Amino acid sequence: MTRTTPRKLAAGNWKMNGSMAALDEARAVAAAVPDGIDALLCPPATLIGPMAAAVEGTALSVGGQACHAAASGAHTGDLSAEMLGEAGARYVLCGHSERRTDHEETDDMVRDHVAATWRAGLVAVLCIGETLAQRDAGHTLAVLGEQLVGSLPEGATPDNLVIAYEPVWAIGTGRVAEPAQVAEVHDDLRARLGDIFGDAGAGFALLYGGSVKASNAPDLFALANVDGALVGGASLKATDFVPIMEALAAS
Ligand code: PGA
Repeated sequence: MTRTTPRKLAAGNWKMNGSMAALDEARAVAAAVPDGIDALLCPPATLIGPMAAAVEGTALSVGGQACHAAASGAHTGDLSAEMLGEAGARYVLCGHSERRTDHEETDDMVRDHVAATWRAGLVAVLCIGETLAQRDAGHTLAVLGEQLVGSLPEGATPDNLVIAYEPVWAIGTGRVAEPAQVAEVHDDLRARLGDIFGDAGAGFALLYGGSVKASNAPDLFALANVDGALVGGASLKATDFVPIMEALAAS
């Protein structure tokens, strides 16, 4: 049966940070995942295997930060979703704004990455977000709607897709979006999902990302259509991330 209540997800994105020594942070997070939420850390690809081994048997999942569209081939330096899955990933971040900028990923490419993630049997965390210029021009909801529709292959379900709204201007800047701004976007995304998927639209988890910390998490999680967070900087240390997980469980 199709789920119509989203699961809650606290997700961490280590970006290009962390080493084997940092696996102790993942162990500490894994030991503290509260009941009632899903928890995920996405380390650099070199740490997926070691992290998956370190947290095996716990409630903490491990994910990749990006994948190539193909399963294998002549693509030096790239990794397929199948490879990430074999290493121990259960999720893959798709279309993070740093990938859209640094690697010029377009909606078309992101759609292929989501499809590749599903082909490998993994859950896609599709990231969308507007720039400050787009927000200032009043285009936020239109931009996000285009990214959502443009980046989504056929076949999305609440079990294979999580959506993360990450305003580009709030990522790594310490400038978190106001709860009212987040609510406006998340309510709009929920309505769009309802238009596309009918009743199932209510079941997709909608994460907010961008300078989430323990201090601002409770206000964000109190919003009706915020089902979790995608956390960068504050996911690197268990002492920062565990209170965010706890705030989500308490929401
Ligand atoms: P930040 O990053 O929490 O460091 O702002 C969020 C993200 O890019 O997912």
